[in-house]
Amino acid sequence: MEPVLEISGVHVYRQGSHILKGVDLSLSGGSLALIGRNGMGKTTLISTIMGLLRSSEGSIRFMGQELIGKKPCLIARKGIGLVPQGKRVFRSLTVDEHLKLAFEPKRKHQADIYWNVERVYELFPRLKERIRQEGTRLSGGEQQMLAIGRALVTNPSLLLMDEPSEGLSPIMMETVIEACHRLTAAGISLLVVEQSLHFASSVSDRYAILMTGAIVQQGEFPDLLRDRQLLSAYMGISNTRVAR
Ligand SMILES: Nc1ncnc2c1ncn2[C@@H]1O[C@H](COP(=O)(O)OP(=O)(O)O)[C@@H](O)[C@H]1O
Ligand SMILES: [Mg+2]
Repeated sequence: MEPVLEISGVHVYRQGSHILKGVDLSLSGGSLALIGRNGMGKTTLISTIMGLLRSSEGSIRFMGQELIGKKPCLIARKGIGLVPQGKRVFRSLTVDEHLKLAFEPKRKHQADIYWNVERVYELFPRLKERIRQEGTRLSGGEQQMLAIGRALVTNPSLLLMDEPSEGLSPIMMETVIEACHRLTAAGISLLVVEQSLHFASSVSDRYAILMTGAIVQQGEFPDLLRDRQLLSAYMGISNTRVAR
């Protein structure tokens, strides 16, 4: 099967600093968690896939098509959705307005489900209860649901999620984990950037660790969660903190 996303030899500089130093990563459907400590380049990689940052070298192929050099709007139109770090919802727009503005009625849907505003309310009934609320009057968890919904109504076949569990209560975290399961079941591929190993390993079977701009380790989550040395070397945590 052709990979959904195939990244090879990607280098990115930001303000003269060499941030990504030859990233190789492949995703063939389902969900892959990109993990690693703060400042390692996870958001830089997500932004580069989306065309928001320029790669000086390498290749990023989505369904076999090269993305490097393409504008963000064209990359989005090809079927990649972004749930950005920090959610980025607007103060002056209501829940309903966010979703209606992002909705792409003519997008050919590549996943199994066609996502419109009503479908998002079925996935997150809580958002329907907040339909007339303005963005920043929502709780952190509700803002995350809205950020996911806003990406879904563009009908992506690949969703890039940058730290979706950041700032969520434990209950909200479980709600978002459950939603991610429904998305992969509906045929959407996920690349999930996470610092929470609980969230990452609940959503993804596979992981890749980004360390100072390169992928240093990848494999299956059960093996990682058993590997105390790996966890402390790359994640800076002891096994006792890995609650499942
Ligand atoms: N706007 C920026 N300009 C220059 N350097 C940046 C910018 N944003 C982040 N960086 C640097 O890029 C590196 C990777 O950051 P980032 O991709 O945000 O890491 P992560 O998402 O893994 O925490 C860090 O060293 C950070 O200081
Ligand atoms: Mg980040």
